[in-house]
Amino acid sequence: MDRYCVFGNPIAHSKSPDIHAAFAAQTGQQLVYDKRLAPVDGFADAVRAFIAEGGKGANVTVPFKLEAHKLAGALTIRAQAAGAVNTLLFDEHGITGDNTDGAGLVADITHNAGVAITGKRVLLLGAGGAARGAVLPLLEHRPQALHIANRTVATAEALVQQFAALGGADVLSAGGFADIAGDFDIVINATSASLQAALPPFPPSVFHPGTLALDMMYGKEPTVFLRFAEAEGAVPRDGLGMLVEQAAEAFLGWRGVRPDTAAVLQSMRQKL
Ligand code: ATR
Repeated sequence: MDRYCVFGNPIAHSKSPDIHAAFAAQTGQQLVYDKRLAPVDGFADAVRAFIAEGGKGANVTVPFKLEAHKLAGALTIRAQAAGAVNTLLFDEHGITGDNTDGAGLVADITHNAGVAITGKRVLLLGAGGAARGAVLPLLEHRPQALHIANRTVATAEALVQQFAALGGADVLSAGGFADIAGDFDIVINATSASLQAALPPFPPSVFHPGTLALDMMYGKEPTVFLRFAEAEGAVPRDGLGMLVEQAAEAFLGWRGVRPDTAAVLQSMRQKL
């Protein structure tokens, strides 16, 4: 059977094996997918060992996404733009790196939440790795505006510079949290503030009734960002759909088949 895995450190709580097992069962694909704890200083060796054992592909999670980007001999355009890799493909061409996180985010917004991005005003909070991976897939849907706000303003401005050359010149803008002007149809929290139960200090006026407020984090309880957004009249959505959709996009790249995510998302939700 073809073998896949997810590398991370820590990795015990990864949901990827459950998600990919469900995709394989649903599509009749013969594969095994497990999780592997790679030593913090031993990611490349762990990948090579897996390839030697016959591994066909892997997902990569914290803290190895930048190292995976360096290790790959070839990169997809979206992995180049993201500057990080969450999906590896091993074949006769060597190691190819892809990034399916942004595509997963966009699929969750457009398909699962049923909210079009085209022509909308989108606010991206954060300018780290997670935000960077989201920019190109968002731009591909031609929003009216994509404003990137970050605690460190220079990092947001650098992202705008990078993506201005990739079709975002008329759409992109950057700033700090306090000076965000106007309201938005979609607000995405790509900061890691939710991990510390913190709320980035943006004004509540970014929301209008019905704004889609999406936090890339997920958990049993809504994050502080989602609670705040809902109190301001926004529609809250956590990152579980994005997780399932990025996995579906990786599965498609490896197996050539797109799984149906709705049932898998529902069952992952029940298991939270
Ligand atoms: P990730 O891969 O999760 O994006 P990262 O690259 O370290 O992680 O980026 C973390 C992001 O969350 C950054 O935008 C960071 O802001 P800075 O660029 O100013 O560091 C943001 N962030 C982290 N903690 C935050 C907090 N408590 N409030 C607001 N923003 C925060």
